[in-house]
Amino acid sequence: MAPLDFEIWLNHFEHHARHPRSLQPEPASQLPTDERRRIARSMATFQLGEQSEGRGFLKAAEDFARARDTPAIVRIVELLIREEQRHAALLLAYMQEQHIARARGNWTDRCFRRLRRLAGLEVYLQVLVSAELIGIVYYRALAAATHCPRLQLLCRVLVADEFAHVGFESQLLLSLCSTRTPRMQTLMRLAHLAFFLGTAGIVWLTHRAVLRRAGYGAIGFLRACRAQYAFYLEPVSLPPSRASVQATRRMPAS
Ligand SMILES: [Fe+2]
Ligand SMILES: [Fe+2]
Repeated sequence: MAPLDFEIWLNHFEHHARHPRSLQPEPASQLPTDERRRIARSMATFQLGEQSEGRGFLKAAEDFARARDTPAIVRIVELLIREEQRHAALLLAYMQEQHIARARGNWTDRCFRRLRRLAGLEVYLQVLVSAELIGIVYYRALAAATHCPRLQLLCRVLVADEFAHVGFESQLLLSLCSTRTPRMQTLMRLAHLAFFLGTAGIVWLTHRAVLRRAGYGAIGFLRACRAQYAFYLEPVSLPPSRASVQATRRMPAS
């Protein structure tokens, strides 16, 4: 990743830190009981996933910054973690309005946290970007599964931030991967894709009540997640004359 790219991302996250997202305080309109029951546990699990001190991520970024002389990455990661904590706070505030209990622990969340600690920045990013890409599809589905405009707005706010997170993480991941041999790149990509699809399958199984309500069967959900993965992590190389086509490439629907 070029120094200019780090500068662009740093400006982006600094701007967001100065203008944090918020929801207007409004009198809470209570969710119907069946809808509340359907989303409560699922939403609490995602709230837990957003909530992290990010010490492992920060440590990996610090090691990377020292090794590659890219100090800006530490501040970017610090601000990104803060934005995730803001997501956790926004979700928690909504859950409290709706008297939804927070999750104290969840096996999928524990697996993600342990996996992220396994190695350096590259593995950390692979695990994180997987969660974020699946999160984009999930939050869109949650918005479609509810009639509450306040929850729909919250989901849109989260998705908008996640697009930027995934943009930064995928750009960094692709640039790290490009330093490896072509054979190693293929192996790593296949391993990451298998992990990603396995994780998306588990998310469908554990959140299927919400996802089904949004119109997703297992295959449809995996397809939507796969499309996000392809858009960010399998960029198409086009000859320069077709660069403008690539620039206007449409976002995948989910
Ligand atoms: Fe988030
Ligand atoms: Fe994120």
